[in-house]
Amino acid sequence: MGRAILVTATDTGAGKTFVSCLLGEAMRRKGFSVRPLKPVESGCETGADGAPFPGDASSLRDAIAPDLPLSAVCLYSLAAPLSPHLAARAEGVTIEPGRIRSAIEGAAEASDLVLVEGAGGIAVEIREGYSFADLARDVRLPVLVVAENRLGVLNHLALTVHFLRSGGLSLFGVVLNDRTRDPSPARERNEAEVRRIAGDRYLGRVPHGARVLPEGILSGVFGLFPP
Ligand SMILES: Nc1ncnc2c1ncn2[C@@H]1O[C@H](COP(=O)(O)OP(=O)(O)OP(=O)(O)O)[C@@H](O)[C@H]1O
Ligand SMILES: [Mg+2]
Repeated sequence: MGRAILVTATDTGAGKTFVSCLLGEAMRRKGFSVRPLKPVESGCETGADGAPFPGDASSLRDAIAPDLPLSAVCLYSLAAPLSPHLAARAEGVTIEPGRIRSAIEGAAEASDLVLVEGAGGIAVEIREGYSFADLARDVRLPVLVVAENRLGVLNHLALTVHFLRSGGLSLFGVVLNDRTRDPSPARERNEAEVRRIAGDRYLGRVPHGARVLPEGILSGVFGLFPP
């Protein structure tokens, strides 16, 4: 049975898919079998068949597991650009957390590492009353937080870390992601503060336009696989 982690973020658009693709590719190059999952994707464009096309799931699949059918990566593709629970409600879709939990467990049985990408941040609800934090607790997923390097991230990260710890969840790592390259005084100073907030869970910084993940982040992930 492999390991599974939840990739969440300080906010939507912070870089979960970008970092997950690089992480999955790197683990694959190291000889691990990796399965991506984006269990619920909202805000999907309309695909050629007229159905919502899950772009994140497609990027994850293409980067990490090109042979997987998209339906094995994304269980619920929703069109509305809303939180999953609201998009599902708007489209008359009933999201079943049990189906998502089974998919994670099945993928973990079939691989060394499952990367589960959330939607938005950790408190986002998959269905009303059931958040990604609840999913992480139920399936015992250690949580990797992608923190976008911008003004405001220190507050978002402190809240996320506090929320995880107070809910008894396992904070596996924090990466600081330079999603943009715009210079700003905050971006220059954030890394030291992120280290202070995340402590020994800080794994490293992903440069803008990175094609591979820094070694420090990868060695942190190898910590999931004791020799
Ligand atoms: N380090 C980076 N360098 C260059 N571009 C980046 C970087 N990180 C993220 N991006 C780009 O920023 C955009 C948002 O990133 P991404 O889609 O990974 O965010 P997300 O957290 O997965 O968003 P969502 O909440 O919608 O799933 C994408 O176009 C992505 O390619
Ligand atoms: Mg994404």
